[in-house]
Amino acid sequence: MARDRYSERNFDSRPVEQEKIDKILEAGRIVPTACNYQPQRFYVLKSEQALATAKTVTPFTYKAPLMILVCYDINTVWTNPQDSYYQNYNSGEQDASIAATTMMYEAEELGVHSIWIRGFDSKAVVEAFHLPDNMIPVMFLGLGYPNEKSKAHAWHYRNKPIEEMAVEL
Ligand SMILES: Cc1cc2nc3c(=O)[nH]c(=O)nc-3n(C[C@H](O)[C@H](O)[C@H](O)COP(=O)(O)O)c2cc1C
Repeated sequence: MARDRYSERNFDSRPVEQEKIDKILEAGRIVPTACNYQPQRFYVLKSEQALATAKTVTPFTYKAPLMILVCYDINTVWTNPQDSYYQNYNSGEQDASIAATTMMYEAEELGVHSIWIRGFDSKAVVEAFHLPDNMIPVMFLGLGYPNEKSKAHAWHYRNKPIEEMAVEL
C-alpha cells in the first residue's frame, strides 16, 4: 500500500461516492491522538462554491473534485508546557497529520488518489472559510480518481537511502 501511493496531480472530474467519503472520514476519526483529546477537525469541500474558494487560497488544487481541509482545534489539543526544549509545544499538527495520513491510505485502498497540500497562507484560509479563532488549518487533502494523464512526478522516485534516515543507537 505504501509503495502504491503517489501524489495525484491529474484528477478526473468524476465525483467520489459519498460511501467512500464516509469511509475516508471514519479513518480520520478513529486515529490515535495525544491523550485521546481528538482535536482533528475536517471540512469537506465538494460543492462548486467550496472548491472555488479553495482555489482562491492555493494554486495546488489540481481540479480535485473533493478536498478535505484538515484542521485542529487549539482549545482541545494536548499541550506540554513543561517541555524545556520546544516552547509552547502542542500536539495539534501531529494529531491532524496522523488523521490526514490515515485518510490518504484509506482513500488509496478504495481506489481514490490523493495529494497533501500545504502551499497556502493560513490567514487566507481562515478568512476564506470563515474558520473560528480556535481552528488551525494544517493541510488540504485533494482527493479523487486519476485521469488518463495520471502518473507519479519524478520527485516521487527520489527517495534518500535508509542509511541517511535511520541510525541504530
Ligand atoms: C507537508 C507536505 C506538504 C505538501 N504540500 C504540497 C503542495 O502544497 N503542493 C503540491 O503540489 N504538493 C505538495 N506536497 C506533496 C509533495 O510534493 C510530495 O509528497 C513529494 O514530492 C513526494 O512525492 P510523492 O507523494 O508522489 O511520493 C506536500 C507533501 C507534504 C507531506
